[in-house]
Amino acid sequence: MSLDTTSEIEIIKVATSKIDQVDFETLSFGSVFTDHMLVCDFRNGAWEKPIIKPYEPFLLDPSAKVFHYGQAIFEGMKAYKIEDDSIWLFRPEENYERFNKSAVRMCMPEVPEHVFIDGLKQILQLEKDWIKKGKGNTLYIRPFMIAIGSGVIAQPSTQYRFMIILSPAKAYYSGEVKVLVAEHYSRAANGGIGAAKAAGNYSGQFYPTQLAHNAGFQQVIWTDDATHTKLEEAGTMNVFFRINDTLYTAPTSERILDGVTRKSLIDLARREGINVEIRSVLVSELVDAAKDGSLKEIFGAGTAAVVNPIVGFQYKDVYYELPKMENSFALDLKEKLTNIQYKLAEDTFGWTVEV
Ligand code: COI
Repeated sequence: MSLDTTSEIEIIKVATSKIDQVDFETLSFGSVFTDHMLVCDFRNGAWEKPIIKPYEPFLLDPSAKVFHYGQAIFEGMKAYKIEDDSIWLFRPEENYERFNKSAVRMCMPEVPEHVFIDGLKQILQLEKDWIKKGKGNTLYIRPFMIAIGSGVIAQPSTQYRFMIILSPAKAYYSGEVKVLVAEHYSRAANGGIGAAKAAGNYSGQFYPTQLAHNAGFQQVIWTDDATHTKLEEAGTMNVFFRINDTLYTAPTSERILDGVTRKSLIDLARREGINVEIRSVLVSELVDAAKDGSLKEIFGAGTAAVVNPIVGFQYKDVYYELPKMENSFALDLKEKLTNIQYKLAEDTFGWTVEV
């Protein structure tokens, strides 16, 4: 599939690129941004013409609603450059649809496809030198929308800004990932905004995740808010559990993000003949499986994190180390997924889209 280009986007280029100042080998995730950004404002009930312009700070009124009521959503995507210099996206329509679902839940206007998809295609063409070839190199794409209308009255804004910024990236996590299973804090509740990629879902996790960091863990696995007995998702990833040779992952719900990597891994695993069960796994099941040795693997799945093996988990002050697996499902699925993303294997699912 190839995306259509539109000429409806104004482009203002930088005079001099900063690319030569960037060391692409030592990038820390999300810290370096490319030369340009896409900006499109919603005013008077309509989207204005998108502009691609030099990456720079911008001014907002201190009473802008994003500062007070957190009306903000985002997506995470990646672009890949392959041997013949072509650039590819992975299931971009999934991110586009999820973005607009998030927008509806947060009482924000939906973004038209020509702004999100065609705008993305155009900014990627402009920034193609920032995408390095070779597995592990990607350009992380952060589309987001904020409420820019002013006034501290607690009601939805009438003005919004949609933007796309781009950041060359390698791995999200470096080193081992140990997780703490939440006993008290929650990420989301029924009827809440857990299924939306809303900024507040992430900031609400910062404090409990910091407590977990202080105790030596990189992430928290959230449990359901009502009973804290069901395993749900981790801060930056959906989670999979391998008990014997079956893979389990929680069903998506009002509390759980419908991850693109999650759903791709489910399809890939099933194609490989792995039994995948989509159901809630109880914390007690996980502890029992760790004790009797049937728990073989836990791994996270997300755009930024890709597939991230977890080496152990702690629950109620007891740490359970996971075995080192020779035929790891996590590593095998990661290899298969990234081979598709980097066009090193046939994409029988039709997931990859050329820019
Ligand atoms: C992603 O995986 O792209 C995300 O949006 C998670 C983010 C916290 C890095």
